[in-house]
Amino acid sequence: MHLAPSILTANFARLEDELETAFAAGIRWLHLDVMDGRFVPNISFGPMVVKSLSPLAKRHGAVVDAHLMIEEPERYIEAFAAAGCDYISFHVEATTHAHRMVQMIRGLGCKAGVAFNPATPLSSIEELLPDLHLVVLMSVNPGYGGQRFIPSSLEKIARLRQLCIARGCPDLLIQVDGGVNPSNLPAVREAGADVVVVGSAVYNAEHSIVDSIAALQAV
Ligand code: DX5
Ligand code: ZN
Repeated sequence: MHLAPSILTANFARLEDELETAFAAGIRWLHLDVMDGRFVPNISFGPMVVKSLSPLAKRHGAVVDAHLMIEEPERYIEAFAAAGCDYISFHVEATTHAHRMVQMIRGLGCKAGVAFNPATPLSSIEELLPDLHLVVLMSVNPGYGGQRFIPSSLEKIARLRQLCIARGCPDLLIQVDGGVNPSNLPAVREAGADVVVVGSAVYNAEHSIVDSIAALQAV
């Protein structure tokens, strides 16, 4: 299972150091939360920041995964592909033509992911599964780091795992995003997560990055 730090609660004045520390602790997956202030209330960063961070990740053999919490994601897919993303995930709620988005992302040589919110049913992404590399199951309402894990997400993860098997996509990666920490990580993994996003569980005021990652790796 992959631990995928989100830099949303990292110190943006020291991003290189904070990422180097995470890579030195064994992290090989970077989750970049892109927010436009329209699809979600918060504004984070765009392709320019991704472009500056992806060489750092590549030096460590780490995967760069962009989670686009933006309206009209089709307008920006090329820019994120050019910025060095390995995976590009868009929200199924943010576009009319989700399958065309998957085709666009794959056509650019990136791996395609789709993200869906807590209120969005599995049926909304079911027809995309055979063409996806990643499914991002939101276990918080998107927009901010440091939120509480929505408990009903565990059952939804298990249903998604069953659906992937039923649709003949056992290798599709399930990424759980939001509110994951050492106390709920075992249950999230047990439910079927292949990748877990960890933001405030890695970048927080209480513990060092090294200790935070060690606590997650321990479970
Ligand atoms: C929320 C983001 C999540 C979140 C993860 O909109 O998609 O990636 O920042 O941060 P934590 O782990 O603190 O919930
Ligand atoms: Zn995210």
